Amino acid sequence: MSATSFARAVLPPDIRAMKGRAPIVTLTAYTTPIARLVDPHCDVILVGDSLGMVIHGLPSTIGVTMEMMILHGRAVVRGASKAMVVIDMPFGSYEESPAQAFRNASRLMAETGATSVKLEGGVHMAETIAFLTARGVPVMAHLGLTPQSVNTFGGYKVVGREGEAEKVMADALAVEAAGAYSVVLEKVPEGLAARISQRLAIPTIGIGAGVHCDGQVLVVDDMLGLFTEFRPKFVKRYGNLGEAADQAIAAYAAEVRARSFPGPEHSFPDTLPAAKTLK
Ligand code: KIV
Repeated sequence: MSATSFARAVLPPDIRAMKGRAPIVTLTAYTTPIARLVDPHCDVILVGDSLGMVIHGLPSTIGVTMEMMILHGRAVVRGASKAMVVIDMPFGSYEESPAQAFRNASRLMAETGATSVKLEGGVHMAETIAFLTARGVPVMAHLGLTPQSVNTFGGYKVVGREGEAEKVMADALAVEAAGAYSVVLEKVPEGLAARISQRLAIPTIGIGAGVHCDGQVLVVDDMLGLFTEFRPKFVKRYGNLGEAADQAIAAYAAEVRARSFPGPEHSFPDTLPAAKTLK
């Protein structure tokens, strides 16, 4: 079955229509087994370019390529049957021109089966967002702390305090006017995120942006306690799978060293057991 033959139950207009009705539940996923786990519980699954750091050990999202996104996007789409899959456009794949953005966005959608793309940027990306949406590419925008610009920001800082607030608001209005169907607000002060959420007709999906956004997103490995390199304040740990995995791996290593694994129940005898006689 090709990636594009999956019919999705949830589409961008459905997500847009959730504004004011129900909080939009979003998690990232990068692999088929995790997509299968989050799918029944989420409205949106994001194949985030955070996979560069979380899965590939990169220092930031800047080194993430189209090929990496396509490989993980395909894996996630295979594991998702209910939630809508959104895929990040990696750094360098859309900023140059609307035509470049369309070429790469259409490739991401066609080669993975994802329903829409996410890209970072506000006023300066509005022309590109309009170009994409007019050509069948639904766009989720990403504002506030946009991690692909970490070197410009000088770190993973809160964006939108004091003098910056009106710029973030202007960005939000610009992406909405350009046709984005939703917008991620990352590390935006909660009061500003509330004001933006009130002002826009499209839903806001917050990460480190307070409780007044129309939905929330977390990196799944962060909330499961699997990615422990660093822990931003906005991450709530709902599990401690990293610790559980460490204990399981240590137990395996100890049993192999003690020659207590594998046991007879995990081994194959040289001769078949005698067939039971039937009465
Ligand atoms: O890449 C990602 O996981 C993201 C979320 C943090 C919103 O963009």
